[in-house]
Amino acid sequence: MYKNNLILQALKGDITSQIPVWLMRQAGRVLPEYRQTRKKAKNFIEFVKTPQLAAEVTLQPVDILNVDAAIIFSDILVVPEAMGLPYSMAEEKGPIFQNFIRSASDIQNLKIAHTDQYSYVIEAIQLTKKHLNNRVPLIGFSGAPWTLFAYMTEGKGSKTFSTAKKWLYSNPSESHQLLQKITLSIINYLKDQIKAGADVIQIFDSWAGVLNKSLYQQFCIPYLKQICNEIKEVPIILFPKDGFFALQDIQQLNYNAVSLDWTIEPEWVIPLLPNKTLQGNADPCLLYANEKTIEQETIKMLNKFSSVPYIANLGHGLYPDIDKEKVRFFIDIIHNFKR
Ligand code: CP3
Repeated sequence: MYKNNLILQALKGDITSQIPVWLMRQAGRVLPEYRQTRKKAKNFIEFVKTPQLAAEVTLQPVDILNVDAAIIFSDILVVPEAMGLPYSMAEEKGPIFQNFIRSASDIQNLKIAHTDQYSYVIEAIQLTKKHLNNRVPLIGFSGAPWTLFAYMTEGKGSKTFSTAKKWLYSNPSESHQLLQKITLSIINYLKDQIKAGADVIQIFDSWAGVLNKSLYQQFCIPYLKQICNEIKEVPIILFPKDGFFALQDIQQLNYNAVSLDWTIEPEWVIPLLPNKTLQGNADPCLLYANEKTIEQETIKMLNKFSSVPYIANLGHGLYPDIDKEKVRFFIDIIHNFKR
């Protein structure tokens, strides 16, 4: 059905002869074309809420970088907003929520997100699918329950998310109520993305790494399990950033693939995650190096993953000041690699 379905084959468990690649934050400030399009919107949120512009930047990396999948341009904070917590994005800094969750009654006031509250994302997906014209699959996404909980209780980004963790330790039953409401919202959101044409789903648990095995078992695994058991229509990838301690529990869940951050050694993780497709995990900072170093390190990574179903990616998103030509170079090395 797709001119290029390498990613779907890898997610089915095939060891593809050419290794597919896409990059987290491929639609972003690394591309001068993105920065041009972004000027057409007043701010980041208006940009995300304009389906024509979101579709335009979603397609750019497919044309310019030759990646094997598109990922819909949006943000994980669409879901908290749809539940009733509007935010703003401070330029170069990150999100700030005007109102965030400070008490149990704030949790009661939250809505379960529904189509009407995020219809602009659904329109952006429909528009993108039309323009993609089956060239490559389209990835839809959501933040994981814990990562959204972290922003919703902290009210902004944080290095430690200690306010969010304070909820887990001091108000476990209210924390579970909030996580359950977030999870139901995520399931609605993902089902609507799939109906609109998303071919793959990725769940970003960007703040897994501030927890530990026990907290992850109590406050993350049960909700991640609900999500993967509800999303049966398309393959689903989980990215538990810095969550090495959670991998044995994640292995038990019905995720088709696990996306790995750059601290994880392939030799260490391959026996831990049998029957899962692996994705990752070059350090984004590798792309600051010269071409010789990029080539050596990338080939080392590809060789280490070559015995398992695999999608090449970075261990986290591209940084805005990485040179677009280095990104292109990295992708070409992957495509030219012979397994
Ligand atoms: O190309 C893609 O990967 C798709 C688009 C995408 C964005 N955000 C666009 C974006 C995706 C998948 C996200 C997910 C996201 N958003 C995550 C999970 C992934 C991760 O990075 O761990 C998180 C934690 C967020 C929250 C968020 N959004 C922060 C902390 C920031 C500010 C940081 C920054 O770079 O300025 C954003 C803004 C954001 N989301 C940008 C982009 C391209 C930069 C905004 C801009 O254009 O100025």
